[in-house]
Amino acid sequence: MTETEDHTRRGLPPNPDGLNLAASWYIALSSGELRSRPRALDLFGRPLVAWRDGGGRPVVMPRYCPHMGASLALGRVVDGDLRCPFHHWSFDASGSCVAIPGVSRIPTTARHAPLPTVERYGYVWVWYGGPEPAFDLPDFPAMEEDRGAYAGFRFDDPTTGTARQLLENGIDYFHFMALHGMSLDPVNFRQLHDQKEAADNGPPIDDEAWFGVEVDGTLKNWQLRDNPVGWLHRMVTTFGSGTHFRLLIDGWPGGQRFTTYIEGEEISKVLMGITPTGDYLTAQRGWAGVRRTNKHWKTFLYFLLFYAQNRGGTAQDIPIYNTTATGRPASYVRYDNVLVKYRRYYQSWVEHAAADQSLPGEAP
Ligand code: FES
Ligand SMILES: [Fe+2]
Repeated sequence: MTETEDHTRRGLPPNPDGLNLAASWYIALSSGELRSRPRALDLFGRPLVAWRDGGGRPVVMPRYCPHMGASLALGRVVDGDLRCPFHHWSFDASGSCVAIPGVSRIPTTARHAPLPTVERYGYVWVWYGGPEPAFDLPDFPAMEEDRGAYAGFRFDDPTTGTARQLLENGIDYFHFMALHGMSLDPVNFRQLHDQKEAADNGPPIDDEAWFGVEVDGTLKNWQLRDNPVGWLHRMVTTFGSGTHFRLLIDGWPGGQRFTTYIEGEEISKVLMGITPTGDYLTAQRGWAGVRRTNKHWKTFLYFLLFYAQNRGGTAQDIPIYNTTATGRPASYVRYDNVLVKYRRYYQSWVEHAAADQSLPGEAP
C-alpha cells in the first residue's frame, strides 16, 4: 500500500499532482486585455482564443480552426464573427461556422464549443467543468455598487503553484503567524456554517459551492526587524486605533472574497480569482482596497500601508507556492482541521469537473 492509499483509507483528501482543478469560474484575462483583436490564451492546459462579438461580448473557445488548424488568434472579427486568416471561414459567438467563401454547404463538424463566459469586475471569467455552470459567479459589491467607498489596486501574481495552494492561503491561518509574522494572541479560527455571517463580503453564494472561515484575534506588538509584514499589520491596526483584528473569508471553489476589520470597523476588502494556465502555472489575480475615511491623507496613508502589507505578504507566499512539493501525503495536526475540510470540499468540486468529459480544446 502506498502512502497516498493509506491517506485515502483514513478519509483524508488526496494531495494530487498537477492541475487538479475544481469546477468553477476562473479569470481568463482582464477586460482591458481583450479589445477588437482576438487573443490567444492558454487555460487549463488548453490552447484557446478569446474575442469579442458584434455586441462586444467576450467569447472564449478552442484556438485552432476546424478546417486546417490555423490559429484563429491570427484572425479578425468581421461583422461580429471571427474570421480565420487562412481560408476565411467565419465563426459566430456560438462557435458555429456561418460562412465558407466559395462553398454553400457548411460541414457539421465546422464548429467549436465556447466556454460559458461572464464579464465582471474588469475581468472575463470562464466556467470550467461542464457545458453549463453549476452556480453563478458570486457577487462582490465592493467592486460594483460600493466601489466609490474604496481606494484599491489590482494585482496579478503568476506562480508555478497550483490553484488549490493559492486558495488555501487564507484558510491556512497558522501561516499568517509563522510566515507573515502576525502576532495574534489569543487567536480564534473557525469555519463558518451560516452564510449570514459572511454577509459583509456580499450576497450569498450557492450553498454547495460556498466555503467560509473567520480569523479573530488580538494583535500584539511586533518589531520591524523580526518580520516587516508582521510589523505592517501592526501599523495598519495602529491607524485603525485598535488591536482587535478580524478577517472574514468566503468564496467558491475558484475564488474568494475577504473583509478585514479592526475593532469591529471594516478597513479593507479583497477579491481573489485564479487564472489556471496549465500544470504548475497558476496566477492569482484580483483587487484589494481600503475603505475610504473622511480624511484624504488618512485614506492615502492607509492605502500605502495596506498596499505594502499585501504585496509584502504575497512576496513571502510566492517562493513557497513556487517550490512546494505537491502530490505527496501531508502530515496534519490539530490546527489543520479546517484546512482538511477545505481540501475535501475542494476535491468534491474537482470530481464534479472530472465527471464531465467535454473539456474544450485539444489536449496538449
Ligand atoms: S484553416 Fe481556417 S479556414 Fe482554413
Ligand atoms: Fe500567505
